[in-house]
Amino acid sequence: MTPFGRHEEYTARELFGTAADRAFEDAGISRESVEEVFFGNFMGEFAEEQGHQGPLAAEAAGVSAPATRFDSACASSGAAVRYGVQAVRSGRADVVLVGGAERMTNISTAEGTHALAAAADALWEARAGVTFPGAYSLLANRYFHVHGGSREDLAHVAVKNHDHALDNPLAQFQQAIDVDDVLEAPMVCSPFGLYDCSPMSDGASAALIVSEEFAEKQSLAAPVTVTGTGQHSDSLALHDRETITNTPAASRAAAVAYEDAGVGPDDIDIAEVHDCFTIAEVLALEALGFYEEGTAIDAASDGATTIDGELPTNLSGGLKAKGHPVGATGCAQITELTKLLRGDHVNSKAVADAEVGLAHNAGGTVASCVVTVLEVVA
Ligand code: COA
Repeated sequence: MTPFGRHEEYTARELFGTAADRAFEDAGISRESVEEVFFGNFMGEFAEEQGHQGPLAAEAAGVSAPATRFDSACASSGAAVRYGVQAVRSGRADVVLVGGAERMTNISTAEGTHALAAAADALWEARAGVTFPGAYSLLANRYFHVHGGSREDLAHVAVKNHDHALDNPLAQFQQAIDVDDVLEAPMVCSPFGLYDCSPMSDGASAALIVSEEFAEKQSLAAPVTVTGTGQHSDSLALHDRETITNTPAASRAAAVAYEDAGVGPDDIDIAEVHDCFTIAEVLALEALGFYEEGTAIDAASDGATTIDGELPTNLSGGLKAKGHPVGATGCAQITELTKLLRGDHVNSKAVADAEVGLAHNAGGTVASCVVTVLEVVA
């Protein structure tokens, strides 16, 4: 991935070109080997007036191959990864390039908020003024009402994820914060202050997914493999759901991914989950089966999800501190998890025994979700 942050001087295509360069260099694979490109982007029409981004992504990566853009809001490149994996598993391709890019800071926060709101139901939510901080604040307030919990509990999620990003050179914020900083920050939408929110970010991510046969034939060092992939959907609008205190699209995506990989929640050593707002990490931990519903609110304050906890979560810094260029996020979770598992991430040493990692990438208010399981194979 590129560093996430403010890159006003680069277009999304340039950012993706850089991420792809890094992927090719890392993998030691020629551009000619790529048989298909799967690319995630959500708000290119708003930010750059640019649609039709499949071929543009291939061109930016220096690849001549069929190329398709995936839109699943903030899960766009998670979906791109999943369909890339399926192309390789089906035998249709030996090498695919997957990834995503987003440019968000070249437009104002107000314009970006408007663009992101297109991931909600345009007729019933966005038209009534619902924004993403607003929608997730409804989830948080309802969670507090049903299960209990406080702003302070959520603050621990932000503090943890900022801590994890402290030495991550690719993270947007490498800055320690404490619970008071979170509680005293400017209010965005109650109960969220500034530090409960992921930021507006520019950035891109890319990965090369190859078949086992190709890796063997080329003698590639590919110690991490995708063993499970799952995806599911839910009603786009919150009011059409039976409850808003859980996220069934994530539970169902996880069930499919676990079955695919032949593992369960207890087998997961590290997780990257979609913490676009602090409550989202809590809901993800529950949907993925790590916690019963209504019980993950203390996970960060108890230390269970910190770097030295039982289930280190968001060791990259998560969306909160690593940044969240929405179309790039899903594949960035995969690139960070891969490095964490193979031992060349700044936080790898702390989880040296980790062998199974999980990525949870959500679109909108988890109306879509992709879950991926990665395992060390060599
Ligand atoms: N966390 C920590 N710091 C943040 C931040 C965040 N989420 N967002 C901005 N900042 C910092 C900036 O770096 C800047 O710091 P500086 O003054 O030291 O340079 C300062 O806060 C002001 O930044 P600015 O961009 O002017 O903030 P803003 O008020 O315009 O926007 C939010 C802040 C939280 C409203 C905006 O980032 C946002 O809308 N986030 C949610 C994005 C979203 O919905 N994504 C999709 C999820 S589903």
